Amino acid sequence: MAGDVLGRREKFATLAGQLGTPLYVFDEQLLIERCERLKQAFAKFPVPVSAFYAVKSNNHPYVSKALVSQGIGLDISSGLELALALEAGAREIIFTGPGKTASELEAATSAEVQPIIWLDSLTELKRLAGAAQEAKTPVRIGARLNIQPDGLWRKFGIDINELVAFIHKAQLCPFLDFCGIHFHSSWNMDARAQTAIIESLGAKLSPLPEPVRQKIRIIDIGGGYWPEPGELCWADGEAQMIMKRGLIDFDPAEFKRTFTPAVPIEQFAQELGDAVEKYLGCLPLERVFIEPGRWLCSDSMSLIMRVTDKKMPDLVITDAGTNAIGWERFESDVFPVVNLTRPQLTERPCHLLGSLCTPHDVWGFSYFGAAIEEGDLLLVPSQGAYTWSLRQEFIKPVPKVCRLG
Ligand SMILES: Cc1ncc(COP(=O)(O)O)c(C=O)c1O
Repeated sequence: MAGDVLGRREKFATLAGQLGTPLYVFDEQLLIERCERLKQAFAKFPVPVSAFYAVKSNNHPYVSKALVSQGIGLDISSGLELALALEAGAREIIFTGPGKTASELEAATSAEVQPIIWLDSLTELKRLAGAAQEAKTPVRIGARLNIQPDGLWRKFGIDINELVAFIHKAQLCPFLDFCGIHFHSSWNMDARAQTAIIESLGAKLSPLPEPVRQKIRIIDIGGGYWPEPGELCWADGEAQMIMKRGLIDFDPAEFKRTFTPAVPIEQFAQELGDAVEKYLGCLPLERVFIEPGRWLCSDSMSLIMRVTDKKMPDLVITDAGTNAIGWERFESDVFPVVNLTRPQLTERPCHLLGSLCTPHDVWGFSYFGAAIEEGDLLLVPSQGAYTWSLRQEFIKPVPKVCRLG
């Protein structure tokens, strides 16, 4: 990852020189390449697949617009994201997420491009039926199915045992057209969790009466495809330990980091396709939807910052604060920090800390470079997913966004 960045060093340095730091750099070409690969991966699926980009993973308009231009739909989860999707020119939209308000449902009903609404509960069904009746507008809907009845995921969707009653209730409103079901499972390093859900759906759906099954023309299997090359994290307590100690003469090879690999998207597509074919033959499926977020956008944004102060041989302060990513992410996740000014593919220990007035303003504990000095330009790659969306104006302003030319 660090090596890939160095090839584009001049471009990053020019942008930082022209626009100042800190700065997010959006790489549209890379996003389009990901999109193309995703389409290819799902091209041989047994049922036509439509991809809907999960806007929440990076809600910058550059990202949605670029994906819409490639024929991708948008998956939104709020009225705010609906406005963004319409502004981005989306031709197909789906609306997911719990707690949809009356005004969000009204806006969706009357939108120029009306979303398919995956309803999260009977309350939402009642709310939407009222809005659709009032507007005398037909709306395509479906139900999100709960896939984990315990813990924090129990807040999502309805129990599959309530599906028949849900469909009957939806049919009472002449303006609601029930067309499918939705589920979403997160953080999948491979397709095992999703295929297990598809298998259990097949077992529950196949005994249902024919008229009920005939209603399910779409199945949305959600997002949660982890990008290659996998996930690198600090081992339990390791980041806290490194925060407490000086790092002079410490060898980063001794840091305890855990790596979890992820399978390529082609393998996800193959296994999901096999599962749909094997277990959902009882449904008259016209389309399968997918909602990739991080798989599409994670590599498409980098963050550039400058060293503003070198306070100790093993501690520097940068001009970006973690408000640029919205949370203390680097106390759990590991990303390389690349010194663009003194390039070298050698990892050196150093406390890399931001300029916010809080100790939890941590970028990392090492950098790739020959040395590190005041004024050096640093780059953190792969900040496209859940970084820009979580930014916040805390003490310092949010950095600008520019395109990599
Ligand atoms: C309903 C839904 N779909 C898709 C996604 C995208 O997930 P990911 O970015 O892991 O692909 C999310 C993320 O939270 C989600 O809640």
